[in-house]
Amino acid sequence: MATICSTHCRSYPSLQTVSSPSSKLGHVPQHVTLSSSASKRFLAAKVSLKSQSDSNQVAVHTHQPQQSDGAATAAAVPVDIDTTQKLLKSELLSFTSAEESQAEASFYNNENESVSITVVGASGDLAKKKIFPALFALYYEDCLPKHFTIFGYARSKMTDAELRTMVSKTLTCRIDKRENCGEKMDEFLKRCFYHSGQYDSQENFAALDKKLKEHENGKASNRLFYLSIPPNIFIDAVKCASSSASSGNGWTRVIVEKPFGRDSESSAALTKSLKQYLREDQIFRIDHYLGKELVENLSVLRFSNLIFEPLWSRQYIRNVQFIFSEDFGTEGRGGYFDNYGIIRDIMQNHLLQILALFAMETPVSLDAEDIRNEKVKVLRSMRPLELGTMVIGQYKSHTKGGVTYPAYTDDKTVPKGSLTPTFAAAALFIDNARWDGVPFLMKAGKALHKKGAEIRVQFRHVPGNLYNRTFGTDLDRATNELVIRVQPDEAIYLKINNKVPGLGMKLDRSHLNLHYAARYSKEIPDAYERLLLDAIEGERRLFIRSDELDAAWSLFTPVLKELEEKRVVPEYYPYGSRGPVGAHYLAARYNVRWGDLGIDTDQ
Ligand code: BG6
Repeated sequence: MATICSTHCRSYPSLQTVSSPSSKLGHVPQHVTLSSSASKRFLAAKVSLKSQSDSNQVAVHTHQPQQSDGAATAAAVPVDIDTTQKLLKSELLSFTSAEESQAEASFYNNENESVSITVVGASGDLAKKKIFPALFALYYEDCLPKHFTIFGYARSKMTDAELRTMVSKTLTCRIDKRENCGEKMDEFLKRCFYHSGQYDSQENFAALDKKLKEHENGKASNRLFYLSIPPNIFIDAVKCASSSASSGNGWTRVIVEKPFGRDSESSAALTKSLKQYLREDQIFRIDHYLGKELVENLSVLRFSNLIFEPLWSRQYIRNVQFIFSEDFGTEGRGGYFDNYGIIRDIMQNHLLQILALFAMETPVSLDAEDIRNEKVKVLRSMRPLELGTMVIGQYKSHTKGGVTYPAYTDDKTVPKGSLTPTFAAAALFIDNARWDGVPFLMKAGKALHKKGAEIRVQFRHVPGNLYNRTFGTDLDRATNELVIRVQPDEAIYLKINNKVPGLGMKLDRSHLNLHYAARYSKEIPDAYERLLLDAIEGERRLFIRSDELDAAWSLFTPVLKELEEKRVVPEYYPYGSRGPVGAHYLAARYNVRWGDLGIDTDQ
């Protein structure tokens, strides 16, 4: 399966497909040639487009000669500065030629291929709030192939019309205020169908298979199953989907959402069971944080800007902070949450994934396996967490402005006296040459004073700073800090010391600010859009490989066990506060001050 997206979805080099012999797995189209103009899109010396491990695909690399200092020979790619600036201004930085567009369009319109996406657990919250809206957004942006069908699969009885009504009601995605949305929505809904069935019934999945075949109408069939169901029924559904509804002549892929187990053992058992029915390259373990725009951008920021990479080590960085906060509690999700807690819900996956991307060495290429190899290395170089290096908390009821906010244990779905943490802070260390001794602090909590996710990189003090006198005794105030605000209101800003204009010598802290809303007029796609598109394209870069998952669990399992065995009582913090005071003491032990305490005004 080649890139199906039209040019405005992606700016990957265009691919031309050539037919290849069919294999046991069915029709296996392979990417082979890269048009010469396509290579212009990449100024990098070596770009790898597709995972080599995908048995359905062949990786393509384009090489450009390198200078002795490692810089790509930019002369090979003439870029007209004026034009480039104009393009930048209009947000159209794309080197697409007519030839490329044609190649992409021809694939996009491929008459012989079909893609069907089955959302298993179609009536659930995630499906309604995220998956269907993301699929619609992809459709709106012309990113779905010509012959696509969407099936909702769940136990409840529903007609196609009822599914369509349900989907249309929850279309609260970014597209809903755009031009022709209604029209496009109607077209999209016509491609959505429903099939009612049990998750463990071969017969019901076989009936789905029959319907899918009717829609595929003799075309090569490519099938994506999105498992939006509780983990206890994952395996049954995978077993039935793979034995009774997988494609006979194309690819079959399955997207699974966390939780991938509760600890190392249960995660390994889940992986083992999944692998009874699927190959690793068919399993797409989603961590939706990897689909967020600024997380995607981390590698670009670091590896394509000369000014950052040399600073990216213990030599210049004092500490790095990964902060997640939500200004609401578990509200209705207590049943799920109580079995997992904030450490499993956010830290072991979302924050750890960002950390791995942040700290990894330069991968050999942009190939999924090369990137994931580097991430695994980081995770395997880390020390497992210990009780002494963490703080846990749980929110309690709080009354503010006449409104009483509930405690975590007031949630009816939470067992009375639950000790499950809704907040945690931890110090992690990577024992390798680059990061030896640098504290990587994580903080995640629900029912805090604000919603947000950010990465803060605090740099070392300037040695022998001539201006130290101006900062007084608090040198931390003068520390350069790079903030990558993942959400909301995406931004990347660097705090610098600057002279206040005037005749005197007064310094202040100002921001070099890349505020996305001001810089880019384009809306930012939802993480699920990117990830669904990647899964359709067979791009695995943003999905979690099983060894990554094992490494992640090894870091957290011992401390999770200890917390549960010792029944460690969390520190209670008021709903809507900044979380437990213990988090500040923890940071102070490593000579760190949380960067989110001050007010970062955009200056
Ligand atoms: C999910 C967690 O993975 O991420 C939720 O299970 C959390 O508890 C959510 O609310 C946060 O995602 P986002 O994209 O809204 O920041």
